[in-house]
Parts: sequence; C-alpha cells; structure tokens
Amino acid sequence: MFRDRKLEIKTPEQIAVMRRAGVVVAETLEVLREAVAPGVTTGELDKVAERHIRSMGATPNFLGYRGYPATICTSVNDQVVHGIPGDLTLRDGDLVSIDCGAIVDGWHGDAAITVAVGDVGAELGELMRVCEESLWRGMAAARLGGRVTDISHAIETYVRGEGGYGIVEDYVGHGIGSAMHLPPSVPNYGRAGKGPALVRGLALAVEPMITLGTTETEVLADEWTVVTADGSWSAHFEHSFTLTPTGALVLTALDGGAAKLAELGVACAAS
Ligand code: MF3
Ligand code: CO
Repeated sequence: MFRDRKLEIKTPEQIAVMRRAGVVVAETLEVLREAVAPGVTTGELDKVAERHIRSMGATPNFLGYRGYPATICTSVNDQVVHGIPGDLTLRDGDLVSIDCGAIVDGWHGDAAITVAVGDVGAELGELMRVCEESLWRGMAAARLGGRVTDISHAIETYVRGEGGYGIVEDYVGHGIGSAMHLPPSVPNYGRAGKGPALVRGLALAVEPMITLGTTETEVLADEWTVVTADGSWSAHFEHSFTLTPTGALVLTALDGGAAKLAELGVACAAS
C-alpha cells in the first residue's frame, strides 16, 4: 500500500521523543487494562484514555484521524480492529482489544493489547497468548541489515505452529514517526527477506491480528468497525519499535522490551 514511498529515518534525538510518546501509550494501556471489568462501557474506557494521555501532556492521535471520533479503538469479541467506543457494556467472558496512540512534540506512538473481561476460558486465553507471542517473535526476528518481511515471516511461522488460527491479511503493521501511518507496510504473513532493509532510525508498528476461524474480514455500517466474516473471535496486539546498534528498543513497552527480548535471546537497547 505504501509502495515506492521514501522511508522516514529518525535521528537518535527523534527516537528519544518517540520513546516518550511510547511510554505515554504504554502507561495508558496499563491504566485501561486495570479499568476493564464486567459492567464497564467502552465509552468509559475511551474517557479514561483521553484523560490519561492529556494529563501527561500528550495528544491522542486517533481522534480526528480521517474523521475517527474517539481516542482509542475498542474491538469486542468478533470485532478485529477499529471498533468505536460507545454504549457497549463489557460482560464477563468478553474479549476486548484496545488500540491506543499518542503524540509527543509531533512524534507518534501506537500500541494495542487484548484483555479478557472476567473469565474467558482456555481457548480464548490461548488465542491471546499466541497473538502476543507472535508479536514478540516478529520483533525479535528484526535485525539491522535484515528485511521487513523477516518480521512478517516470524509472526506467521509462530502462529501456524500453534494451531489453526486465521491470520488477518486485510490490515497490516506500518512505519511510524512524524505520522501514525508511514511506509513500509508490515504484513503478518509471508516469506522472509523481502521488502525494505531494516536500518537504524526506521520505526515500525507491528500488529498481528489473529482469529479462531477465518482470515476474512468485513467492515460494519459505521464504516470503521472491522469484524471477522465468520463471527469468530479475534485478538490484536501491537507495539511500535526500532532497531539500534545495541539492540531492539520497544518504544511502547514500559521496560523497552528488555524482559521479553531477553527471554527470546535478543539484545535490547533498554537493558
Ligand atoms: N492504531 C491503528 C493502527 O494500528 C489505527 C487506528 S485508526 C484510527 O493502525 F482511526 F482509529 F485512528
Ligand atoms: Co498501528
């Protein structure tokens, strides 16, 4: 989708500002994770998010993006991404994906988590685990001098190895920096060794979306909410990250990715 467009390469100083935006997003998502409970509406979560982002001197980047009316996306059960917060009340057993972004001094952060509402059972717990782990495997596969689809391939390989999950193809990860969506596209599937080279100063948002059924999606009449075509439930996790000479830095993880990357045997610039 972003073919032939120049990649935005950030200076270390600009990456440092992106890290501040990333920490705002990470903290906001932790606040939201704690706020999720049966009886809470998605609109209430949106208010919590906007208040928290602004309290840190940052600005929501989704709000007004192509007319998008809220600070976060809340996608429940068979909704994959881009669900609009509103009157929907979360119930015990639901799954809610929360996507959140913020701008600090013109630089963007973007991340997402999927949270269980009360008890969701083993199958959905596993769906979430596989999705989040595939995100980390994808970032861990990124090396300076490698290619963008090394990430894609690692995500697909991990998900396929864990069961018959559907990997959503209609939506993909993206470059990020002075805008939320920049080239290149970062698919969640495909062969390794393709696409642009991974270089210092490139920042990417990686965001696998997987389902208990189909890969096919549809958009609801609100023109935003993406649902699975077969009604199967889905999970979505996202981080913004960059590569430095001393390792990967997960801009939207509170610890910069240190703990999880160490577990995967990969150097982290934050450790
Ligand atoms: N965060 C989403 C993404 O990862 C974008 C949200 S679309 C918006 O690409 F309209 F809600 F901003
Ligand atoms: Co994104």
